[in-house]
Amino acid sequence: MINSANFTDKDQPYKTVFFETFGCQMNKLDAELSLGLLQEDGYKIVDKVDDADVILFNTCSVRQHAEDKVYSHLGALKTLKKRHPEVIVGVLGCMAQKDGEAIFKRMPHVDLVCGTRMFSRLPEMLLKIRNHGSHVLAIDEDQIVNVKRAVTYRPNFYQAFVTVMRGCDNYCSYCIVPYVRGREISRTIADIKEEVQSLVSNGCKEVTLLGQNINSYGKGLDGNVTLGDLLSELDDLDGLDRIRFVTSHPADMSRDLIRTMSRLEKVCEYLHMPAQSGSDEVLKRMRRGYTAGYYREFVRYARELIPHLTVASDFIVGFPGETEEDFQETVQLMEDLRFQNCFIFKYSPRTGTKAAELKDDVPDETKRARNLKLLELQKKISLEENTKMIGKKVGVLVEGASKSDPNRLSGRTRQNHIVVFNGSQELVGKLVGVLIHEVTDLTLFGKLTSCL
Ligand code: 5AD
Ligand code: SF4
Repeated sequence: MINSANFTDKDQPYKTVFFETFGCQMNKLDAELSLGLLQEDGYKIVDKVDDADVILFNTCSVRQHAEDKVYSHLGALKTLKKRHPEVIVGVLGCMAQKDGEAIFKRMPHVDLVCGTRMFSRLPEMLLKIRNHGSHVLAIDEDQIVNVKRAVTYRPNFYQAFVTVMRGCDNYCSYCIVPYVRGREISRTIADIKEEVQSLVSNGCKEVTLLGQNINSYGKGLDGNVTLGDLLSELDDLDGLDRIRFVTSHPADMSRDLIRTMSRLEKVCEYLHMPAQSGSDEVLKRMRRGYTAGYYREFVRYARELIPHLTVASDFIVGFPGETEEDFQETVQLMEDLRFQNCFIFKYSPRTGTKAAELKDDVPDETKRARNLKLLELQKKISLEENTKMIGKKVGVLVEGASKSDPNRLSGRTRQNHIVVFNGSQELVGKLVGVLIHEVTDLTLFGKLTSCL
């Protein structure tokens, strides 16, 4: 048991950390929280491994490709570690939780393996390694992550991600998340409200609430609390302009929540609700708990109640047994529902999941071809939908200089479109009106018309 009272770090010289994150938004937020803790502990963040005393990877296990990338990064550190054995190398997050001790066996130069619920103790663990030179394995599943975040630590001054629940109890047959992130645990409304309030007091205008399966927010909390209740409470906060939430599961989404969204002023007209497939047979084998028909009807209902709602989705191609007919049903769903954007993945078997017991029988080249087909279709749909925006005035929360052109500003609409336009730096953090005159499949370009 590591107890922070046992360690002090006053005599440590200058400490530097290189930190790289793979995977989902929750991982990125965990990275921010970890870096906040390390900075409080006196670490300086550096962007080159060669300048670092500590090298940490926050990892993802959702597909094999993500794991391969981390192992190849780790492998590349072998020589550095030989030259500088005092440098600490750590693996954090989902892969650490999943592979545990095996990481030390495969990569003996790794010093720290820290699972998904233990990173609040990073400073102590690093100190222990430094003082005792020993490996540390920390993958206790019962731990609850409770990090008091440093509100100043966020990727964009006007936006923040806030974790409202961790884990997932759904056990979709392909998914490793329930095994590496553990059972669902929701934070209380009071706790979340306090965090959002302090973010807002610090200048934040938009929050995105995060949960692997956010529609089951509240399960296990006292008093039958729901995501709708949380949204209603946050909607009352003065100074906050926008609220988003991800990721929604179609089977756990309720019509009640759609009605609440339509009523609440600050909740944006945007849903990320992965369909995964358009085939009922595949959905059944995926254990998703809904049919394609149900999904279609739900999107129709949501769009009827929430004008201008945009919906984003995820799809997996090449799930075991996916026939050409199954795939065509996915194509049809995509054509019919006209998502704002989609993330498309080739099925990757994950040891320990139910689907890993099925034969991974779709050849890789078929997976690749189906992946490409969906990507191209979505690109075409996004361009067509964005073209409909030409001539329209949209409300934009200005985020900062555009990444592709630092002389221009970039921001987002409530529907999550990226908008690029000319304007001065003073507009950053403000809500402005922009008249759209040009589009690509990814971006709307326009001219500033007003401050809202
Ligand atoms: N193979 C491919 N894609 C996967 N996803 C989750 N597990 C797998 C897997 N084993 C995708 C799903 C999910 C997204 C985060 O990753 O589409 O929504
Ligand atoms: Fe994975 Fe399904 Fe849970 Fe999403 S809902 S995290 S896909 S098990």
